[in-house]
Amino acid sequence: IFISIALHCNRTAMAQNGTIENGLARNACPPPLPQPIFINNEWHTSIKGKKFPTINPATGVKICDVEEADKADVDEAVKAAKAAGQRGSEWRRMDASSRGRLLHRLADLLERERAVLATLESMDTGKPFLHAFFVDLDGSIKTLRYYAGWTDKIHGKTMPVDENFVCFTKHEPIGVCGAIIPWNFPLLMFTWKIAPALACGNTVVIKPAEQTPLTALHVGALVKEAGFPPGVVNIVPGFGPTAGAAIASHMNIDKVAFTGSTEVGQLIKAAAAKSNLKRVTLELGGKNPCIVFADSDLQLAVEETQKGSFFNQGQACTAASRVYVEEPVYDEFVRLSVERAKNIAIGDPMEPRTSHGPQIDQHQFDKILELVDSGKKEGATLECGGCAVKDRGLFIHPTIFSDVKDHMRIAKEEIFGPVQCIMKFKTQKEVIDRANSSQYGLTAAVFTRDVHCAMSVSAALEAGTVWKLILLFSKDIKLKSDSKKHSCFQH
Ligand code: NAI
Ligand code: MG
Repeated sequence: IFISIALHCNRTAMAQNGTIENGLARNACPPPLPQPIFINNEWHTSIKGKKFPTINPATGVKICDVEEADKADVDEAVKAAKAAGQRGSEWRRMDASSRGRLLHRLADLLERERAVLATLESMDTGKPFLHAFFVDLDGSIKTLRYYAGWTDKIHGKTMPVDENFVCFTKHEPIGVCGAIIPWNFPLLMFTWKIAPALACGNTVVIKPAEQTPLTALHVGALVKEAGFPPGVVNIVPGFGPTAGAAIASHMNIDKVAFTGSTEVGQLIKAAAAKSNLKRVTLELGGKNPCIVFADSDLQLAVEETQKGSFFNQGQACTAASRVYVEEPVYDEFVRLSVERAKNIAIGDPMEPRTSHGPQIDQHQFDKILELVDSGKKEGATLECGGCAVKDRGLFIHPTIFSDVKDHMRIAKEEIFGPVQCIMKFKTQKEVIDRANSSQYGLTAAVFTRDVHCAMSVSAALEAGTVWKLILLFSKDIKLKSDSKKHSCFQH
């Protein structure tokens, strides 16, 4: 059934001249079977007999029902993961290089199933099929391969301690790793969580987001086919307060990794502290500054900041959500940005020309439009968008506000939608202070032709990742989509 859907949707994706209307009709293809819980390399129904629907946000149509994991199902998954990771088990005895080969084999299977997975991802999230195919799948496959290479390169140290002792460290698996992931990049997040854990010899219990369980479950079948021993990877689709909370507070889970909202991150850290003090890794929100100096290649800066703001319908923690532009080029930057935003192709995610799909669900849609309203009320200038696409459910027009002031809610809160906020600045010191005056610190970006400016400003920015776009080539060289490889540094 999956393959027939993939073929159907691929044909759809190849039909260059379709409209939004017939695209939506075509997407109402036969649903796959209900998707069970994956434990011990076997498929299980929910212990409580519950199911939940997963919806295509582009159409509002249910794709299929999924078996709903709750605390009791998580307990079973943890039992399986613990047994699989016990001393003497097949997984613990396996050579590190063999673990690497398994991860490579899983990557091979993702490559084989690339069209199927991209179709499922596009249907479940509403993101354009081609983005899923090229960005999400590419990133997921490369993540598995990258960590496959680490398995036999995880070294300890020897320490020259006093007296007659030999002192060394040896890295051991932590044990059972729980993972709770969001809906914006479901498969990519899935591989980001499982690949490092497996490379180090751990076992995993992972909960996909309730909005987007399908690609994770499809990969369950591939995990088994690749030859991972039973119990090494267990997938428990379900809701946060039930299955998610059971993972965070479980006494036999040794570590939990979470990506999602700051509020839930706080709950997870508290649950970990109250249960067994398990280790916690959190990847939460962002309100990322993007600084455009007047000497930048303006066209390039407009394109890149806009991709940063609108990619994945703005549903990215790394989104460029505060764009600071130096005064002399501010008006021109706004003009070019608006011109570009108005030409963004909104529509059926399966159409190849579509680059902008729907928001994930009603809750996010309402949150975004409420913040857009606050921007209008607080006096920012609405340059374009600012509303839903008429009669199109969860689609929101790419939105640009200019004259945004730092105190406004749209300048402070994570919107997680297609809203670009443009602000003016005069001096380098001023913009560094303003960029840093945020409770977040995830990413930042600097656009300039001046290497000294790029290096000193990025060093002053308080963010985990700073992108610097420094044009090193002549302006008339057409930069391709991989241009960043040549023209920017990342640290
Ligand atoms: P969320 O944080 O509620 O959901 C993310 C994951 O956490 C899902 O798998 C969910 O089932 C799980 N979860 C929810 N409550 C839980 C609990 N009590 N215990 C354990 N797990 C729980 O995020 P939501 O509601 O989908 O989006 C709210 C906001 O969070 C967004 O508007 C956005 O600002 C931010 N967000 C950030 C993401 C990122 O990539 N950093 C991804 C998704 C959302
Ligand atoms: Mg939530």
